[in-house]
Amino acid sequence: MNAPSNPLKDVFEWPAAINEVPKEVFLREDIYKLELEKLFYGPVWHPVAHVSEVPNVGDYKTSYLGEKSILVIHGEDGQVRVFQNACTHRGTELVTGFMGNKTEFECPYHRWIFDSKGDLRVCPGEEDFPEDFTKKKFGLAEITTENFFGLLFVTLDPDNAPTLESYLGRTAEHLQAVMGGDGRLKLMGYQKVIYNANWKAYRDNDGYHPPLLHAAFRLLNWQGGKGFCVVEPNGNIALVSQLKEAAKTGFLKDESILEFRDVNPEQGSYVVAPSLMTVATKHLDMINLRFPMPRGVGKTEVHWAYFSHADDSEEMVKHRLNQSSNLLGPSGLVSLEDAAVFHRIQRAATTSPKNSYFLKGIVEGFDAANGAQNDEVANTVFWEYYRKTLGFPRTEAQNN
Ligand code: FES
Ligand SMILES: [Fe+2]
Repeated sequence: MNAPSNPLKDVFEWPAAINEVPKEVFLREDIYKLELEKLFYGPVWHPVAHVSEVPNVGDYKTSYLGEKSILVIHGEDGQVRVFQNACTHRGTELVTGFMGNKTEFECPYHRWIFDSKGDLRVCPGEEDFPEDFTKKKFGLAEITTENFFGLLFVTLDPDNAPTLESYLGRTAEHLQAVMGGDGRLKLMGYQKVIYNANWKAYRDNDGYHPPLLHAAFRLLNWQGGKGFCVVEPNGNIALVSQLKEAAKTGFLKDESILEFRDVNPEQGSYVVAPSLMTVATKHLDMINLRFPMPRGVGKTEVHWAYFSHADDSEEMVKHRLNQSSNLLGPSGLVSLEDAAVFHRIQRAATTSPKNSYFLKGIVEGFDAANGAQNDEVANTVFWEYYRKTLGFPRTEAQNN
């Protein structure tokens, strides 16, 4: 991962200051291609599904890793595997729907059939194939996967990737907490959204903005309490905050969505970003995993998956469901306005000034590894990881 080659390093200047980011990175196709190669297909772990999304044999889900179509299948042997979603004959995308259940995956082009373990079972006209043909060689291409309390992380470069443990670092314990401590989650449903914004504009959502951008915080007089933010050198973060009870202002017809039932208000809000883009959140009783994927340089698709816990009563499931998309989702009470900001950053990316700035918490000698939960310190750590991984030298380094 050190000193990577970067064909763009001489045509692109990175500002000298640690808290400045050139807005060109939200716009350039060539940079986007480099990101796919170095980050999405490089030695980096990406969460793509939780096993509770595919609880039964034959359950499957499709997604994207960068721009690669992928397929998650619960195999007949009980194992959940992640494959490249392409027929191994001529490369036809094998599954086109989002999710379902089947034990045979048939390619429509020449009717090859794969089983739920990815093995090739049927090839029409096989008797006319070359003598050395063997079905064994043509199983679906499996992607290296690690399971962290049910959350499946994949990498396309396992030889050079760090262990998942070291990749997660100090975010691991908080990620585990979001997933109920034991990972025994139950899928309640999804909301999907496409933002017309570069994936990094989405990813850069900071801890400074929530009470300022989101009107619900003001309308409910809902102030956050103490908290902390651990930041790993790869920009992965865990942000844990105390949540005080929101004031009963009469603003909401049904104030039960603000209730704490199975949560210690001292740790009422967890926001954990255990990888490049994925965010795991436990806010009050709501548990969600956001699976974002870049869909081109100016577009980001996000699948918000909402969960209950396997031990929940029916009443608790209802409460979590009610809280889920109503509170924190693409159109949730405390997150609704984010979409507008992502779009507006993208639309104005060519305007002056040419850099964007991170300022809150950036004071002399700030502690980058342990920020406050309401500043922009963690963003600077991610951008430093990004700059180094892609291989952009800082301007001052070029001048020396
Ligand atoms: S491309 Fe799938 S069977 Fe030929
Ligand atoms: Fe927000």
